[in-house]
Amino acid sequence: MMPTRQRARQLARPAVAEGRPPSYYFAMLRHTRALVSCLAAVTLAAITGPLRGQVRVASPDGRNEVTVDVREGKLYYSLARDDRALILPSLLGFEFRGAPPLRDGLRITDTTRQSYDEWWTQPWGEVARVHDHNNELAVSVEEMAAPNRRFTVRARAFDDGVGFRYEFPSQAGLGAFEITDELTEFALADNARAWWIPSNWPRKDRSEELYSSGPVSTLDSVQTPLTMETRDGRTFMVIHEANLVDYARMFLRGPRMEGRTLHAALAPLADGIKVRGRTPFVTPWRTIQLADRATDLAPSVLGLNLNPPNALASTDWIHPMKYVGIWWGMHIGTMTWSSGPKHGATTANAERYIDFAAANGFGGVLVEGWNVGWDGDWIANRNAFSFTQAYPDYDLAAVAAYARQKGVRLIMHNETSGGIENYERQMDSAFVLYRSLGLHAIKSGYVTDLTSAGDSHYSQYMVQHYRRVIELAARDSIMLDAHEPMHDTGERRTYPNMMSREGARGQEYNAWSGDGGNPPEHETILFFTRLLAGPMDFTPGIFDLLLERGTGRPRRPDEPRVRTTLAKQLALYVVIYSPLQMAADLPENYERQPAFQFIRDVAVDWDTTRVLDGRIGDYVAVARRVRGGETWFVGAITDEQGRTLDVPLSFLTPGRRYVAEIYADGPNAHWLTNPLPVTITRRTVTSATRLRLVLAPGGGQAIRIRPAG
Ligand code: NOJ
Repeated sequence: MMPTRQRARQLARPAVAEGRPPSYYFAMLRHTRALVSCLAAVTLAAITGPLRGQVRVASPDGRNEVTVDVREGKLYYSLARDDRALILPSLLGFEFRGAPPLRDGLRITDTTRQSYDEWWTQPWGEVARVHDHNNELAVSVEEMAAPNRRFTVRARAFDDGVGFRYEFPSQAGLGAFEITDELTEFALADNARAWWIPSNWPRKDRSEELYSSGPVSTLDSVQTPLTMETRDGRTFMVIHEANLVDYARMFLRGPRMEGRTLHAALAPLADGIKVRGRTPFVTPWRTIQLADRATDLAPSVLGLNLNPPNALASTDWIHPMKYVGIWWGMHIGTMTWSSGPKHGATTANAERYIDFAAANGFGGVLVEGWNVGWDGDWIANRNAFSFTQAYPDYDLAAVAAYARQKGVRLIMHNETSGGIENYERQMDSAFVLYRSLGLHAIKSGYVTDLTSAGDSHYSQYMVQHYRRVIELAARDSIMLDAHEPMHDTGERRTYPNMMSREGARGQEYNAWSGDGGNPPEHETILFFTRLLAGPMDFTPGIFDLLLERGTGRPRRPDEPRVRTTLAKQLALYVVIYSPLQMAADLPENYERQPAFQFIRDVAVDWDTTRVLDGRIGDYVAVARRVRGGETWFVGAITDEQGRTLDVPLSFLTPGRRYVAEIYADGPNAHWLTNPLPVTITRRTVTSATRLRLVLAPGGGQAIRIRPAG
């Protein structure tokens, strides 16, 4: 289909056309209903100045409907799917310091509508083409008494969910403001099951937590994306946010055993203020993704559609790639970031990694611990980091030149430890230096809970900081991979150099002793939660699963080790999407390993993604077709239960023959007792083939399917 852009007023849409599906007429009926209620509101306003009004907008398929309503001077929205309530009337509004709340005595003064129907192409992604198809309703609201403050709630209804945001026009009664609370509620109609990680401000507020699940009524304070399944299993819902630019990150405060209403909660600045601003001002979108099946949640594009289009003049310098790095050694204790006899970032070691990357077709090499500042307590000494000065045993210019000569991109590591002012002082000159050396990728780090001033590391201050980094990096053609990041709200659409981030417990937790690492179910939950926000630099590909250099002694469950089979490590390359995908193990652990061939082969940029099967927390199977090619990759993973999946290859082109290279859990494989065996087989397949994927407990399967001949 040709890309089209229709910004026609919804009310001016053609009436009934021939040959439309029933959903079309359903949608039109809803639009008519919306028109009627809109006219009613306007008429009422003209006659009485309404205390009450109700307006609706439905998705193009007519299934999802948002209602905005004023009751006794308070503004509410609600959400229904197939006429079934999902979100009951939920309050909208704000509290401020030094001004009365914007919550009471409101009336609707105007409503406008638009429709959007366009396709756009991602420079890289889980899918190449994205359909932005929605109906929009903007409801303007005003306080009936002085200071007569005004704002608009803009809602967009898509077939895969809805988003709404607040917009404050410039006005006499509201100039500079300090938000102390956003009053947005999500009053769930059903005591749905939620998969959640806690938000523990100010004790320890991190994304690197293990997931729990339970009824919404039991939630305390949780992070988004928050994925929920209604008790009857008919609907999956994900609450998150999009286009977080100049605001605080949103959490959800739960009902704590009373009711089912979640409240927006914003990460605070040091003085307790959540957001400082001045009109005109817009908030991020609050999003509620909807699907009939868990497998329909991914790939998630709702948030992308609510971000502005690409702002970069050129994206030619942006390259999805696999990379290796001087990294895992630090986490398992064979190398150090700091100077000394085990210093990992030496010139010779970096060149060894560059040779390995070049020999195996990897695009990048990450070097951590290259720069001065790691000696002593690097977390406490946050202002000691230099982002330009290398340790004496690391010749940055020579390594950069060697990488260039070998056709490999060096990934600069910028750990800040949350020393934001220190980083901001140096960012400009550091990025200019990197650019002058031909270095176009940075992995950043923000190991901290608070900024030096005591702001939450998810506060508005940090949101602004991350945005400055993205923009400055774009200036110098630098791709970004942020660890301990702000959560992903779709920035990559506007700035495709913002490629990947951590923002969940990654592989590194398996290297550390103490908390038992990631349990086998972990990634089967991540897929349906954190990964719906965007790509994750999980760093898969550990082959030395027992972490003891091949002695083969099974480790006790409480000893540090990776809690998957080796085949599952391979499958993670397909299941966990990232345009920057690491082969995380030491190069020597890949030597003479036939299974390494899969990591060499697997792609990192996709034309199409299909979730073939899955259940949150149990298993998932994903197929992805390579961008610009006919080769498919399939990845399937399971939790601690072994299971057999029946996977029809109906996604392949009919009538065509393909060769499937299958990397399966070997005989008696088991994540705890026998994680290493992988059986590699090859067979001819077509779109009529059904594959039986036998997954060991904690296991997985990875498959490359390429056209025969
Ligand atoms: C935590 C990051 O997740 C990890 O990848 C990095 O090695 C350390 N911080 C040091 O920056």
